[in-house]
Amino acid sequence: MDKIIIEGGVPLHGEVEISGAKNAALPILAAVLLTDEECVIENVPVLRDVLTMLKILRSLGIKSQVNGSRVVLKAGKHRKFTTSYNLVSTMRASICVLGPLLAKVKQAKISMPGGCVIGQRPVDLHLKGLSALGANVKVEHGYIVARAETLHSNNIFLGGAYGPSVLATANVLMAAVLAKGKTVIENAACEPEVVDLADFLLKMGAKIKGYGTHRIEIIGVKRLSGARHSIIADRIETGTYILAGAITKGKLIIKNASIEHLAAFIDKLEQIGVSVSSNRNGDIYVKTKKAVLKSVEFTTLPYPGFPTDIQAQMMALLSVVNGISVVTEKIFPDRFMHVSELNRMGADIFLEGASAIVRGVKTLSGASVMASDLRASAALVLAGLVAKGKTEISRIYHLDRGYENLEDKLSKLGAKIYRVKNV
Ligand code: UD1
Repeated sequence: MDKIIIEGGVPLHGEVEISGAKNAALPILAAVLLTDEECVIENVPVLRDVLTMLKILRSLGIKSQVNGSRVVLKAGKHRKFTTSYNLVSTMRASICVLGPLLAKVKQAKISMPGGCVIGQRPVDLHLKGLSALGANVKVEHGYIVARAETLHSNNIFLGGAYGPSVLATANVLMAAVLAKGKTVIENAACEPEVVDLADFLLKMGAKIKGYGTHRIEIIGVKRLSGARHSIIADRIETGTYILAGAITKGKLIIKNASIEHLAAFIDKLEQIGVSVSSNRNGDIYVKTKKAVLKSVEFTTLPYPGFPTDIQAQMMALLSVVNGISVVTEKIFPDRFMHVSELNRMGADIFLEGASAIVRGVKTLSGASVMASDLRASAALVLAGLVAKGKTEISRIYHLDRGYENLEDKLSKLGAKIYRVKNV
């Protein structure tokens, strides 16, 4: 397995270009199942999760050609409706083929995604929403088996114990666009990735209103056509690079990004003492305003709140910020696997229920650490960039799921980072 080695302590300087959003690309690629015509998707990040989605689509009869960040997809003659455990087990987001399969092929058999290290990941809202549209949905022998000769509209409340669900909203939306009549999703997720999916569906001929709010209205149409679409910038990758600039006290220009998708995060950075601004072209400028940064409290919440997917990376910064910070996780209360690894590097963090109390230390020291999940891995990279000495991160296949060319992009900014293959 590959490892990443970082020699810390170099302030990062220069320009970095952000890739397309993984979490927008995955449901948008799944939405191609809704048409027989050709679709062209641009600004697709070249990531392991995207390649897994393309494999899943291939197993369902969708042919694809990848040319850099441009993917051309078209349904072949033989559509299938089953995805195997081997593919689904590596990526939970594969569940978003369920809605489009049901709407177009009238049935779906998808291996049940398991839990994962960031905590329990139930799928009840996906099943509830699709059942409300008239599908017969069962869980049998580890598979979700769903059938519906016709889907019909309904008013669906999609709230769970932790608020709206991003991928359940995407699944129900993708099923409802071909259902008969007007469907209303109440308590829908309004993340930018759901908006991007809705934009793509509109280009395919769907009728959707209210996307980007908690109430989405969909009027079903008989068929959808092919479409061309460019994926929005990855706000989580953007946040991670902003933090790379902040933690190393460097100066960065971040290109091809959308600062407006990160308001809650940037508000906290300003409180800490990191300056983030943007120009007319959308380029983001990051620099540290003060010699001594200030601790903060924040709570992860559904959009437009502070994203859970930047919680771990922000904690890496707070671990070296003077004072006591409090981080509360309200989306995935167990998402703290990075804490013990950051502590191995000299951080002083303890957990109290769904909160982490971070006492800022002066310096971190390089150590051998283990990545546990995608965003936790990014937090360890950030910690390694500022730590004294050498940090060695193993199990970095998690990083390859969600960060395109991470070592290249960081190296170009001056970081001393390299990958050691197959150790
Ligand atoms: C998506 C993102 C993930 C992000 C998460 C929350 C993708 C590919 N992944 O995951 O990176 O961390 O949103 O912003 O877009 N829940 C239920 N029942 C369900 C579904 C979810 O109770 O049927 C709960 C979850 O356990 C969690 C909360 O709802 O507590 C939000 O999860 P959800 O928005 O569904 O996450 P994903 O869509 O899987």
